[in-house]
Amino acid sequence: MALLIRNGEIVTVGSRVRADIYVENETITRIGNGLEAPPNAEIIDATGKLVFPGFIDPHVHIYLPFMATFAKDTHETGSIAALIGGTTTYIEMCCPNRNDDAMAGYQLWKSKAEGKSACDYAFHMSVTKFVKETESQLRQIVADGTASFKIFLAYKNFFGVDDGEMYQTLELARRLGVIVTAHCENAELVARLQQKLLAEGKTGPEWHEPSRPESVEAEGTGRFATFLENTGATGYVVHLSCEKALHAALAAKSRGANIYVESVLPHFLLDKSYAERPGVEGMKHVMSPPLRAHHNQTVLWNALSLGSIDTVGTDHCPFDTDQKLLGKDSFVNIPNGIPGIEDRVNLLYTHGVKRGRLDLDRFVDAASTRAARLFGLFPRKGTIAVGGDADLVIYDTSYRGVVSAKSHHVNNDYSGFEGMEIEGRPSVVTVRGNVQVRDGRFIGDRARGKMLKREPSHF
Ligand code: URP
Ligand code: ZN
Ligand code: ZN
Repeated sequence: MALLIRNGEIVTVGSRVRADIYVENETITRIGNGLEAPPNAEIIDATGKLVFPGFIDPHVHIYLPFMATFAKDTHETGSIAALIGGTTTYIEMCCPNRNDDAMAGYQLWKSKAEGKSACDYAFHMSVTKFVKETESQLRQIVADGTASFKIFLAYKNFFGVDDGEMYQTLELARRLGVIVTAHCENAELVARLQQKLLAEGKTGPEWHEPSRPESVEAEGTGRFATFLENTGATGYVVHLSCEKALHAALAAKSRGANIYVESVLPHFLLDKSYAERPGVEGMKHVMSPPLRAHHNQTVLWNALSLGSIDTVGTDHCPFDTDQKLLGKDSFVNIPNGIPGIEDRVNLLYTHGVKRGRLDLDRFVDAASTRAARLFGLFPRKGTIAVGGDADLVIYDTSYRGVVSAKSHHVNNDYSGFEGMEIEGRPSVVTVRGNVQVRDGRFIGDRARGKMLKREPSHF
């Protein structure tokens, strides 16, 4: 069925215009004023509302065997939560560990999503070792439409790669034109500091941050950047958390490294005092890199506003209270990660745009357009243009609410952002022209989502 969205204020990077949008067969076919529609078309009046391109979360974990347990969401729950929050596409980290076969892992991750997601999705393929079959497997995976890799410099002996494997991955990525995303922390230092703190009887969640201090992240970021400079590959630092690491990335960029930076929602809004709360309340806020000293937030907001931080993701990775308690005797056993997929857009809009830290243009860029450009989805995704997918978020800026686990759709018994105010939320969310969400309720097709095939573009 055709869809006509009338009289919204269409916001894309570099443009803000009041117009109608007409959609046929999943695609935007006309944008203009006074558009007519056939009698059977669905018509939505967007007067007084902003119309954004569907938001893209470039960093989520849905299926994730990790730290002796599994992240809580499935694609059924995660995609519905994403859509209610305005995210119409997410890129999931496909994370087989060092003992797994990469191709078997890729097929497993795909099977977990296929036919079960309500929003569109893609994968970053993790390279967790580099052995004789790795190159041919990665070539097949890229040919299958997964045009980005992921490496972990942390999580020694599980996901982590050594410098030789990082070099081989980046060399291959450069030849293939594939961008490499990287978790940048020095694995050896983390392991040593963890053992030192435990030996001193320091076992609570408040010791997670001191076991992975800012310098450890800055070293990882700087080393990744140095390897980019010396291979000519293009890289993307995920979940950057602090000023020291940002300096390392930007210094390399100023020397000519092809490096981009993502930070994630928790680091803009939460500081390390959350993880210092006693007992399980602290454990709920354990993630890596850890929540940092408060002054880093100002640095991150400013860098985001200037575009030195390119994108805002979530690193959505929900573990419930019982799972967090796996680490009650030792912080090193607390499953790392918190949920955020449902809250990213609303909290970024509220605490960024409404609080004057971010202009609307940069908000759309950081939460949608730049990820689309970097990861080979633009202009099909990440903007509102004739010929693009009709992924649209009609946004109600008059809505007032509060984030709470009592009302969220993520499969988790707590929210890391509990009690935070939101000033705005999606009124209507479409995926390729189908209305999936209305005013906080999922009303659409649970199997609407497709895997997005992407071409390498970083030559
Ligand atoms: O704490 C985190 N970030 N958990 C998920 C795994 C990762 O490092 O992205
Ligand atoms: Zn990570
Ligand atoms: Zn992650």
